[in-house]
Amino acid sequence: MANGSLENDIEHVLIPTDELNGRLDEIAREIDRDYADKDVLVVGVLKGAIMVVADLTRRMTIPVTMDWMAVSSYGSGTKSSGVVRILKDLDSDLHGRHVLVIEDIIDSGLTLSWLVANLRSRGPESVEIATMLRKPDAAKVDVDVRYVGFDIPNEFVVGYGLDYDEKYRNLPYVGTLKAEVYSGR
Ligand code: XMP
Ligand code: MG
Repeated sequence: MANGSLENDIEHVLIPTDELNGRLDEIAREIDRDYADKDVLVVGVLKGAIMVVADLTRRMTIPVTMDWMAVSSYGSGTKSSGVVRILKDLDSDLHGRHVLVIEDIIDSGLTLSWLVANLRSRGPESVEIATMLRKPDAAKVDVDVRYVGFDIPNEFVVGYGLDYDEKYRNLPYVGTLKAEVYSGR
């Protein structure tokens, strides 16, 4: 995998760019409506959510402040355990704020349920979640998600912020990888 196009590693495009964009338009309108009389603090979860935060907030017409958090979930490989460590905390005080957490993907839900409990303990007025992707078949805990882009099958996906080994985040669509990419051949 030293050179060549990223596209060569893609097995199947699950969500093309125009579908991502169409759904982002819809969700942005919902958020505009729901937060019309509130000041929203968008919390992006690094690194995967950068694309969603950038594309969604640009479609929103209400005033937005942004902050970022990076967490790592202890676990083996692609599975998360729910034991979470904060790698980068927020700069903002959450007291009285309307927090909208933006995620790239919810898999087991363990990372996010920990994160939401952590944020709620900081005295915000409200905490809601928006995620671009969700894998319902992988859910281990129920997380109350206000805005969902797409429910997808329980497969490992890359692109649109999501990585395999830190690559493929810059693909403008969501897809699955060819098996040989994992085996390194
Ligand atoms: P949980 O299981 O706690 O994990 O909901 C969510 C985090 O796991 C990563 N994740 C993925 N990353 N393709 C990826 O590139 C996937 O299909 C995938 N599924 C889960 C991701 O970091 C997410 O925040
Ligand atoms: Mg992530």
